[in-house]
Amino acid sequence: MEKKVSIRVVVTGGAGYIGSHVCKLLVKRGFDVLVIDNLSTSSGRNCRYGHLIKLDLAEEEKVLAVLKEFAPQIIMHFAAFIVVPESVERPLMYYYNNVGNTLKLLSAMKKAGIEKFIFSSSAAVYGIPTEIPVSESAELRPISPYGESKAMVEKILRDMALAGEIRYVSLRYFNVAGADPEGEIGPLYNQPTHLILRALKTAKGEFPYLEIFGTDYPTPDGTCIRDYIHVMDLAEAHLLAMEYLLDGGESTILNCGYGRGYSVREVVEVAKRVTGIDFEVRETGRRPGDPPVLIARTDKIRSLLDFRPRYDDLYAIIRHAWLWENKI
Ligand SMILES: NC(=O)c1ccc[n+]([C@@H]2O[C@H](COP(=O)([O-])OP(=O)(O)OC[C@H]3O[C@@H](n4cnc5c(N)ncnc54)[C@H](O)[C@@H]3O)[C@@H](O)[C@H]2O)c1
Repeated sequence: MEKKVSIRVVVTGGAGYIGSHVCKLLVKRGFDVLVIDNLSTSSGRNCRYGHLIKLDLAEEEKVLAVLKEFAPQIIMHFAAFIVVPESVERPLMYYYNNVGNTLKLLSAMKKAGIEKFIFSSSAAVYGIPTEIPVSESAELRPISPYGESKAMVEKILRDMALAGEIRYVSLRYFNVAGADPEGEIGPLYNQPTHLILRALKTAKGEFPYLEIFGTDYPTPDGTCIRDYIHVMDLAEAHLLAMEYLLDGGESTILNCGYGRGYSVREVVEVAKRVTGIDFEVRETGRRPGDPPVLIARTDKIRSLLDFRPRYDDLYAIIRHAWLWENKI
C-alpha cells in the first residue's frame, strides 16, 4: 500500500502484542498513529511506533477529548482482555472491558464524528464449528464469555452500520503467532497461554514441561488442529482493511487465517527442530471447550482485500518467535 499523507489512525490496545505490530507497519507506511492503551496487560515496551497516550477506555470523556483533538479518519480497536479460561472465571470483568468499554469507545467515536472502525474479533465466536473450514456465514455459538463478548460487539457494530452510524471491518483472527521478523517487537504476555509461546518458553527452561491437552481427538494424530497466522501477515490484513474502508468499502466480517491447520504434535515437532532443544512434553486429558479442528475459510479476505500472506510457513512463524524469545 502506498503512503497516504495525513491519514491519522487511533489504535486502542496498540501497546499489546498484535496492536504493536500493526503500529509498526502503519508508521513504516507513513500513517500518523496515536495509541490509546491503559497498559493493563502490557508494559509499553512494545510501543516503539506511534505516540502512546496512557488512558483507560472506561474514561469516555477523556477518550472523546483525545479523539476530537487528534481527529483520526479511522479507529482500530484491539484493547480487550483475551484469556479464555480467565473469562470463564471472571465473566463480569470480561464483559465490562470487552463490551462495556467498547460501547464507550463507540459512543465517543460517534460524538467525535468518526465513522470508520476496524475490530479485533476472534474465531472464538464460532465455538465448536460444525463445518471445517469455517466460513464467516457460519452460526455463532461461542462457548466462553470471551467469545461471547466478541460476538456481542459484532452485533452492536452490525446494528450501528445498519443505522448508518459507522462503517466497519470485523477481523476474526484464528491463532495468531510469531513476531516481527526484524526482532524489534513480539509477544510479552504476563499469562502466555498460546501453544507456540508455551513451547518456546519451555525450550528456554521457563516451564519444566509442555502439556498436550488431549490426544484422543478425531484428527490424524489425535491432537487438536489449529490455523496459525503470522502476526505480521495479520498486521498487513489490517492495513488492507483500512484501505478498503477509506476507499468507501461496505461493512464486512473477514476470517484471518491461512485456511490450513497444524496439529499440536506438528507444532511441537517444529518447535523442537527450530530451537534444537528436545524439551519435555506431557500428555494430559482434554480441556473443556477445545474444538478438535479450527481452520478458517479464507476466500473472502483473499478476494475482497487481495490478501496475500508472506509468512504462510510454520517454520517462519516459529523462527521469528524464537528470535524474539532470545532477545527478552
Ligand atoms: N492473540 C490472539 O491470538 C488473538 C486471537 C483472536 C483475537 N484477538 C484479539 O486481538 C486483540 C489484541 O490481542 P493481543 O493478543 O494483542 O492482546 P494484548 O493483551 O497483548 O493487548 C491488548 C492491549 O489492550 C490494552 N487494554 C486492555 N483493556 C484496555 C482498556 N480498557 N483501555 C485501554 N487499553 C486496554 C492492554 O493494556 C493491552 O496492551 C484483542 O482484542 C483480542 O481479543 C487476539
